[in-house]
Amino acid sequence: MPSHLLRGLRSALAVTALAAAGLAPAAAAAPAAQAAQLAARVDNPYTGAGVYVNPEWSARAAAEPGGSAVADQPTAVWLDRIAAIQGGPGAMGLRAHLDAAVTQAAGRPFVVQLVIYDLPGRDCAALASNGELGPTELPRYKAEFIDPIAAILADPAYAGLRIVNTIEIDSLPNLVTNAGGTATATPQCDTMKANGNYVNGVGYALGRLGAVPNVYNYIDAGHHGWLGWDSNLDPAVQLLHQAATSAGSTVADVQGFVVNTANYSALREPNFTIDDSVNGTSVRQSKWVDWNRYVDELGYAQAFRQRAVAAGFDAGVGMLIDTSRNGWGGAGRPAGPGPRTSVDSYVEGGRIDRRFQTGNWCNQSGAGLGERPAASPQPGIDAYVWVKPPGESDGASSRIANDEGKGFDRMCDPTYTGNARNGNQMSGALPNSPLAGHWFSAQFQELVRNAYPPLGGGSADSTAPSVPAGLRSTAVTASGVSLAWTASTDNVGVTAYDVYRGGVLVGSASTPAYSDSGLSAATAYSYTVRARDAAGNASALSAALAVTTSAGGGGGGSAGCSASYAVSSDWGAGFNANVTVTNTGTTATKSWRVTWSWSGNQQVTNLWNGGLSQSGQAVAVVDAGYNGAIAPGASAGFGFGASYSGANAAPALTCTATS
Ligand code: BGC
Repeated sequence: MPSHLLRGLRSALAVTALAAAGLAPAAAAAPAAQAAQLAARVDNPYTGAGVYVNPEWSARAAAEPGGSAVADQPTAVWLDRIAAIQGGPGAMGLRAHLDAAVTQAAGRPFVVQLVIYDLPGRDCAALASNGELGPTELPRYKAEFIDPIAAILADPAYAGLRIVNTIEIDSLPNLVTNAGGTATATPQCDTMKANGNYVNGVGYALGRLGAVPNVYNYIDAGHHGWLGWDSNLDPAVQLLHQAATSAGSTVADVQGFVVNTANYSALREPNFTIDDSVNGTSVRQSKWVDWNRYVDELGYAQAFRQRAVAAGFDAGVGMLIDTSRNGWGGAGRPAGPGPRTSVDSYVEGGRIDRRFQTGNWCNQSGAGLGERPAASPQPGIDAYVWVKPPGESDGASSRIANDEGKGFDRMCDPTYTGNARNGNQMSGALPNSPLAGHWFSAQFQELVRNAYPPLGGGSADSTAPSVPAGLRSTAVTASGVSLAWTASTDNVGVTAYDVYRGGVLVGSASTPAYSDSGLSAATAYSYTVRARDAAGNASALSAALAVTTSAGGGGGGSAGCSASYAVSSDWGAGFNANVTVTNTGTTATKSWRVTWSWSGNQQVTNLWNGGLSQSGQAVAVVDAGYNGAIAPGASAGFGFGASYSGANAAPALTCTATS
């Protein structure tokens, strides 16, 4: 194609994108055919997509001892000042990153992760990441930061990317807990609450960036150790909703929320739950949990999502969890629960998060790399992501002169004994740290040493096994489930599979099969599996399998069945699934019936090997005649295709049989 024609097409597309982004008059909107060339949003941008590896971070990581094991992980690009948009000598700007992302994408669906972080009066409850804009400089934030970013993101050259934005960390959560007459309030947060510039800045960013059709906005939602108390959670959801409906934004500009950004809260506390009690005293009353409603990020994130939907956000919103530095492995990791002598000894002995207090946030000693980035790891969670690039400091441990607007926060000083926001505990910070965002080699090396899941024991191999596929149940009783899946492949050999029930590791197997026992009758369970290799690399979790145990009782020639459900493909607007019906009784079935109720708007569009009736969310499927008879222990099944929008949670199935 002659180059002037190419330029003509590019500028026509540019007009389309700019109009869509609200950056050009609506009258300039281009024909629908051109608009259609822009990628439509999918429910979860991480599904089936590669994710951008920031070459600058990757090079720093690879240069560290042990760093090559993680240097190919995707991390976010932080736009933390106006100058970061252009970049400069030795620092890639936004266009350079997006151009590199297009190259890495090589035509595949591809996510690039940005952090939008330059609000006026930034970081109002701390000093380490104060920014360049003063509390009243909202006009500069709009004109010099958000508008230029929106214009670049709307360039049709990037229309094939899925651009995921983390929007303004810490700001709105600070207004919830650190402003307005609370014991933890700071004058700067009071100012930001009174002048409305956080709310209006976030609203403006959401609206402007959300107008670009291939942008996905996730608003920062703190972490469980900040907003997990009842008195904080709903006010936080309300405030985020207020921001999402301010300054030109609507809830349609919000695709989800990100939790634990640059923080250290554990993804899962494996050794206790919020529902445990010791000698009649709830875990909530322990010193560590201190009446919080959650003990970890997974529980918090899933609950936050539900509250957000209830408050008026789209039903399809998803959560991101920053797992870059919440691994808490290494020698200090407890192997099991603490002693049940008191609720405090139980929690203290078992907790993997080894901080002095969950309010500690700066360069935490003892932390490790967390779960490697993964798509759809748990229901409601769009991805585990590394937003904070491991190895980049949270703040300097002593005062360092700088021209970045960054102050000295004593929470980064290991000798500091704390304040009201961390319960007057020690800061837990590592010594000798550089300014926020600067490379902190000693911290990176500790994160690698304490990684959990661990990195390979000294092996140079960093290729993860393939994700286990075809997870299915091979036998189901009232108290147990047997699972099997297709073996994973790996360059150095798969050594083990870890099996998770409801997100909790229940056991490991060396072959692609596992039997889980001690379950309750007629109860729905969700299983996922990951593969590990000899070098310690782990695959992402498999797709979840929902299995309902059979009803109790039985014996004496009873008929019984169980049904399990597995999604075989999901393309965002529809999916295919297979249901396996297993005879759990002691005589052959003559007929069977499987029922469930969707939690969303799923609609079966075609079904094979069964007879369908669907009314609203209620679905019933009977056998097709020829597959009604199943011998004890054997299985039959059916499959279907369905459409949906929003969330696509696996339903709990009920199976009944006659004999
Ligand atoms: C700093 C930013 C930096 C980011 C990522 C923040 O704490 O304030 O300047 O880009 O961390 O490391």
